Amino acid sequence: MRFLTVAATALALTMGAQSAFAAPVEIKFSHVVAENTPKGQMANKFKQLIAERLAGKVEVKVYPNSQLFGDNKVLEAMLLGDVQMAAPSLSKFQKYTKQLQVFDLPFLFKDMAAVERFQQGKDGQKLLTSLQSKGLVGLGYLHNGMKQMSGYAPIRTPNDASGKKFRIMTSDVLQAQFEAVDAVPLKKPFSEVFTLLQTKAIDGAENPWSNLYSKKFFEVQPYITETNHGLLDYMVVTSAEFWTELDDDLRVEVKKALDEAIAFGNEVAAEKSEADRQAIIDSPRSDVVSITDAERQQWVTAMKPVWKQFEGEIGKELIDAAEAANN
Ligand code: SIN
Repeated sequence: MRFLTVAATALALTMGAQSAFAAPVEIKFSHVVAENTPKGQMANKFKQLIAERLAGKVEVKVYPNSQLFGDNKVLEAMLLGDVQMAAPSLSKFQKYTKQLQVFDLPFLFKDMAAVERFQQGKDGQKLLTSLQSKGLVGLGYLHNGMKQMSGYAPIRTPNDASGKKFRIMTSDVLQAQFEAVDAVPLKKPFSEVFTLLQTKAIDGAENPWSNLYSKKFFEVQPYITETNHGLLDYMVVTSAEFWTELDDDLRVEVKKALDEAIAFGNEVAAEKSEADRQAIIDSPRSDVVSITDAERQQWVTAMKPVWKQFEGEIGKELIDAAEAANN
């Protein structure tokens, strides 16, 4: 009896020691933008909240600026277990689901409030599960903002874009959008954009204000046209395997911290859209071009047929639901 008690105590001590010294669950968070962006700030906030609340149990390591993976590789790496979280732009998921292409349709959302209404509504929330069959889990949306067009010469109408090379993300909708104005779209990783612009290997690009500013694209693009023609937002994703294997109590805490970090990131996105826009306007490096309603209408007329082109893949009901969020 005494032997059993001693053995049980020894076992309990060993197990206690093991859990006391068990390595924390590691969450590698990989992204491609700078730290002073909505995504960079959100990821750092998430790391901070986890360190405060789950020290010794979970550890977040953030890898910004494509240090670990570019967006075109990160989802494959996630499925292999080499990275646990990322927040690629919604334009970079088309290999995994066609439905998210809805977010790339030009001139779909009138402003970020409409985007928020759609993402938080029934259809937007359902899209978070659209990657499930591919082993990925959508944990939430994060805003960046509306995209602007930039170039070496002022771009006011579709005619000004005709024949010019524009860098795009890996999205067939974005390809169709530029082809609709007879431009030449080139799918290139974000990490290459500055050099492509600086060396004039391409003529222009489309980016939200915070990416134009934080990556210094405005220093190598003398004209930025305020087109607000499309959206650049993100989905925070993880692998289903990692997420389901996490202890239930840890999963709840991690999700709570992530939701708070996303809310913080969204505040940063709204502030940065304004502040970075103003910083670019104030800079002598580039001119911000405003277009008239009539000029804007020329872009809408040229690009809107892209909706019909992708209706079969995205689904008309989903497009209608997204458009209805404008009201
Ligand atoms: C990002 O904001 O994550 C990068 C988007 C891009 O590739 O243009």
